[in-house]
Amino acid sequence: MPKPSNRINGILPSGKDGWEVHFAAMTRKEAGEPIIMLSVGDHDFDTPEETVEACVRAVRGGYHHYTQLPGIPRLRKAMAKASTRCTGIETNSDQIIVTPGGQLALYAAVQGTLDKGDHAVVVAPYYATYPGTFRAAEAEFTVVEAQAADGFQPRAEAIEAALKPNTRAILINTPNNPTGAVYSRESMEALAELCVRHDLWLLSDEVYWTLAGEKHVSPRALPGMAERTLVINSMSKSHGMTGWRIGWLSGPENMISLLVSLNLVTTYGLTDFVSRAAAEALENDYGVKVIADIYNGRRTLFLDAVAGLNDIVVRGSEGGMYVMLDVSAIEPDDEKFAWALLDEEKVGVMPGSSFGEAAKGHIRISLCQPDNVLMDAAGRLRRFASSYRKAA
Ligand SMILES: Cc1ncc(COP(=O)(O)O)c(C=O)c1O
Repeated sequence: MPKPSNRINGILPSGKDGWEVHFAAMTRKEAGEPIIMLSVGDHDFDTPEETVEACVRAVRGGYHHYTQLPGIPRLRKAMAKASTRCTGIETNSDQIIVTPGGQLALYAAVQGTLDKGDHAVVVAPYYATYPGTFRAAEAEFTVVEAQAADGFQPRAEAIEAALKPNTRAILINTPNNPTGAVYSRESMEALAELCVRHDLWLLSDEVYWTLAGEKHVSPRALPGMAERTLVINSMSKSHGMTGWRIGWLSGPENMISLLVSLNLVTTYGLTDFVSRAAAEALENDYGVKVIADIYNGRRTLFLDAVAGLNDIVVRGSEGGMYVMLDVSAIEPDDEKFAWALLDEEKVGVMPGSSFGEAAKGHIRISLCQPDNVLMDAAGRLRRFASSYRKAA
């Protein structure tokens, strides 16, 4: 075959990617071992029935055609309303572009703000696709670690120290995957002040906003930020629609109209019947409260179950779908810990170091299992933690 582009070869560097424990757990589960998978972030339940029915009606109703590139008007309106609630600042349809999932919103945000050779700062621990998304734009990035000791809150001074003359954007994620940290108003204000002072874009990934109760603070509503913030949103987590691939980006009208050209050459608009179902789901908040209650309940249940465990410290874990546990007092090598937990207790978790230096010595627990399974896993973790100490 002729030579592929350097760009496509460069998106994912080869070698170890931190998902080895997860894939081993999955293979062993498929082979019949009673493994509890706490490594993935996809719901253990299906999309709400009302949304499914809305989609079936739309398919039967003949919604099979091309749609407007930035999204059908009804959907953009519903997303604008959701953005007003998510960010706390009035948002209109012209400030919205629909995308197939939050990932494409992220891709569009990076493509829209960074040229080849431009620089961005990414706050870690971060979601696994971030580095590849910058590489796809041939942009450089510096990772700035939010510290475990700070509950994984980002520090504006550390971010400012990483800025370069060609820095154009900062990417953050709150509520955070993998740490579950919900960035405080104080952290957001310091970051916003820095973005205004250095004339930077702020790319704010808020796909877990409904899973943080009242605590979610969007930087878009802060002074001077509406003109420089692009918010990544998705229906995957909030509406139980991971496989439907529906998300959106909100930002200044001028940037949104420029991004329509990206849709023209990539997705050419969103699936017609999916757009109709998504609009109905947003207009009626199908599943939103039930799903938020499920994760809030599971988080409390699991954290209560591990609260009494000596040598395990909970960090972040305030919102979203994950809990982050500091296990370094038991075993500083989190990968070793995760492999041993899988071998001895048949629980699959993600080693924290898969998400960068700051999460070293931690394990990430996904809450995408029913209460009884999470309680079983907490019991296995308890047994493992005490026997591991004895053996050491
Ligand atoms: C922080 C974060 N951002 C974006 C995404 C992408 O979500 P979507 O399924 O909407 O593409 C995910 C998915 O897990 C995520 O965890």
